[in-house]
Amino acid sequence: MRFKPKKSDFVFVGLVLAVIVFVTLLPSPKDNNPPVPNDLAHHGIKLEKDCLSCHVKGGEHPLRERHPKRQDCLRCHRVGI
Ligand code: HEC
Ligand code: HEC
Repeated sequence: MRFKPKKSDFVFVGLVLAVIVFVTLLPSPKDNNPPVPNDLAHHGIKLEKDCLSCHVKGGEHPLRERHPKRQDCLRCHRVGI
């Protein structure tokens, strides 16, 4: 038996494409997080482990309690704006 696409098949494919396009256009979380400021303190810091010399409890600019406990800072914070 030959496959005859029904109207509902086209609707389904259309919906799937719409969802894919929608998800692709969603802003990446990185766009919403505060960027790394482009100032003297941050200029020239390339190693993520250096960030913690200031952004620790008791440091110059401690992170908030509910900040993610992760070391890959630059995965979420953009640099250089
Ligand atoms: C020399 C100390 C120092 C180092 C090292 C440092 N920071 Fe900072 N950071 C600060 C200070 C002080 C502030 C707050 C004042 C400002 O905006 O510059 C700040 C602010 C920030 C902010 C913005 C906060 C906001 O409210 O917008 C982010 C994001 C940030 N730092 C991320 C990083 C990352 C990622 C690194 C490593 C690449 C890093 N910092 C290394 C001192 C430092
Ligand atoms: C999983 C994603 C993620 C990672 C990894 C991450 N952050 Fe953040 N950070 C955020 C988000 C989201 C915010 C804004 C929400 C908030 O203020 O709690 C933020 C806020 C900040 C702020 C400003 C807010 C404040 O408390 O003054 C600083 C500074 C900062 N992050 C530094 C860092 C450093 C340094 C690292 C690496 C040790 C890091 N972040 C890793 C997501 C992340």
